[in-house]
Amino acid sequence: MKMADFTPKNQSQVDLENLPKHVAIIMDGNGRWAAQRHLPRIAGHREGIKSVQEIVTFARKIGIKTLTLYAFSNENWHRPAKEITQLMVLLERYLNKELKTMMENGIRLRAIGQIDRLQKSVAKLVHKVEEETKNNHEMDLVLALSYGGRAEIVDAIKKVYQDLRDETLSIKDLDEKHFSNYLYTEDISDPDLMIRTSGEVRVSNFLLWQVAYTELYFTKTLWPDFREADFLKALHEYQGRERRFGLVSGGQNH
Ligand code: IPE
Ligand code: IPE
Ligand code: MG
Repeated sequence: MKMADFTPKNQSQVDLENLPKHVAIIMDGNGRWAAQRHLPRIAGHREGIKSVQEIVTFARKIGIKTLTLYAFSNENWHRPAKEITQLMVLLERYLNKELKTMMENGIRLRAIGQIDRLQKSVAKLVHKVEEETKNNHEMDLVLALSYGGRAEIVDAIKKVYQDLRDETLSIKDLDEKHFSNYLYTEDISDPDLMIRTSGEVRVSNFLLWQVAYTELYFTKTLWPDFREADFLKALHEYQGRERRFGLVSGGQNH
């Protein structure tokens, strides 16, 4: 597929053969988008869903294999009850509406986080969509819901402890790779690129273990304004980076 088929001219430099396999996004700035327009925060979340739809479709189209979206953090539980309820309603609507698109486009949904903390009906819907899309193989859409990176590590340690106690794991076999299997992300590869919108330059408890060697990209664009062209800009910058993983440049390593 040629880039010119579907992208603005100025972004044609993105090399489709060399895309990051896994892109994770901290979708931030919905509230500020709404405030700038003297609208309630929910209006920003609603507009943010449009960005989600556009970026998911676009990522699938260009061949990103895994897209992880930070939709609701553990800390977000401390927001006003009304906003939480509105976010959950939007999530339910999104999943109900997008299931068809996911099936048509070979998208498999995976949820990471403490899903059981969600309202029962929402948790049930999340599991239903995961189940119905489980044989899709074009792209994994990973939704981080009720997610916290520190909680994920603590939850993993609890599972490790159980397996040690049950003797299904021997301490000598526990290395970094094996430990990763106890995280919510289990078999999902680490992100190659993490994008955060809205100008904040922090990771806010997102994928703490997994971002060890991820390339980070920050943009001032608010999430509801983040669309295809912005995504391409991030991919282009990623492609200009040299990932050394602690080695030296130029392939002179052992
Ligand atoms: C991101 O936008 C969406 C969620 C965290 C659910 P915010 O709601 O954090 O928007 P700002 O940061 O207040 O602008
Ligand atoms: C991070 O955004 C969480 C999500 C995007 C879901 P926040 O708005 O909650 O993060 P802080 O408070 O700016 O760190
Ligand atoms: Mg925010």
